[in-house]
Amino acid sequence: MKRIIICSIVLLLFVNFPAIAFQNKPGLSLEETFKIYVNAIHNSDIKTLFSTVTSKRDFYCISSKGELFKTLKEYYDIHSNRFKEENREMPVELIEVYEEKDFGYTIAVFHYKRKTQSGRKYNLDSYFTMIFHKEDGMWKAIADICTPIKEYFSEEDKNIEYDVNQAYVLNVIKNRRTVRKFKPTPVPEEHIMKILDSARFAPTAGNQQPWKFLVVRDRERLDRLKKEALLWYVESYEKRKKPADEEINSIKEKLGKILDDVLSAPVYIAVLVDSKAKYPDYVIYDGTLAVGNLMIAARALGYGTGFFTTFFPEDKMKKFFKIPDRYRLICFTPVGVPEKWPDTPPKKDLKELVVFESF
Ligand SMILES: Cc1cc2nc3c(=O)[nH]c(=O)nc-3n(C[C@H](O)[C@H](O)[C@H](O)COP(=O)(O)O)c2cc1C
Repeated sequence: MKRIIICSIVLLLFVNFPAIAFQNKPGLSLEETFKIYVNAIHNSDIKTLFSTVTSKRDFYCISSKGELFKTLKEYYDIHSNRFKEENREMPVELIEVYEEKDFGYTIAVFHYKRKTQSGRKYNLDSYFTMIFHKEDGMWKAIADICTPIKEYFSEEDKNIEYDVNQAYVLNVIKNRRTVRKFKPTPVPEEHIMKILDSARFAPTAGNQQPWKFLVVRDRERLDRLKKEALLWYVESYEKRKKPADEEINSIKEKLGKILDDVLSAPVYIAVLVDSKAKYPDYVIYDGTLAVGNLMIAARALGYGTGFFTTFFPEDKMKKFFKIPDRYRLICFTPVGVPEKWPDTPPKKDLKELVVFESF
């Protein structure tokens, strides 16, 4: 006997069924068994969930990320990991149930929602096609095929949605951090060029693109810079403050440590601008905008950077690196894998910074 049930009205399966209906058992319809499966997911109840899944043959699952799982163990692990997630919701819309004597399938839309650390919601809507057969008089799933429909982020209490690409770009910008200590992990030249390629797409006055990017990787040179930078700082401090010898020694020790860390990256980039460019009054803006792009591109590839002014005075740096007179030094930034990503320092409330229309 063939029986097709097409659910013309979408069924939202949030409700808890009476306890008895939670248990899979012989004689239940496919739709009832599917509801048990969904309820088990809502209740993070792996035992009941697996009462609706075959125990006698391989199980096939294609995840929303396109991964193929071929064993029950893998299917079990997927769910037991998911059940550990906090702040998870999964409303389900049942679209179709097709039931023959020993075989059937269900098609449903699962709306997976999880709160992210930033308080936003990650949403993944997917079609789930589940194939069932009869096993000891009970409906048991033998395959679970997931087809993603839409992946997006949403703000709490707001209707605006951000697709994953939009959310990714906004996140990278927010997650850029000034990093002051690095791992020695090498940065491939390919990555350096990608980062600089992003830097050169910054806007410039009259499209003048007045940049030079000086890339420094030579450890010996960087170690020499460390010693020099310490002397530069002490010299300028002495000029400004006329300190006692003990104070100088303590500054040397402190700054020596800071410079050891700040100069621990495998790559440094000096962003320079040509003061003889067509619109010289604007080269500082052009240079700074390129630094912004550079830092964000580096973050996207997993690297930390930093805008350090105190340690690297322009006149001294120009002599040290034999930079031609016509160039101005905008920034000397490390590029490297952070020893640890720093916490976000306090940022002003957005409302404090925004004025609409006119003061
Ligand atoms: C123009 C400028 C100059 C800076 N100079 C220094 C510096 O001399 N030493 C330092 O440790 N950080 C310096 N910074 C980095 C800031 O301290 C850092 O951007 C700020 O604390 C915010 O942290 P975040 O970049 O991780 O958001 C500078 C940043 C800018 C934009």
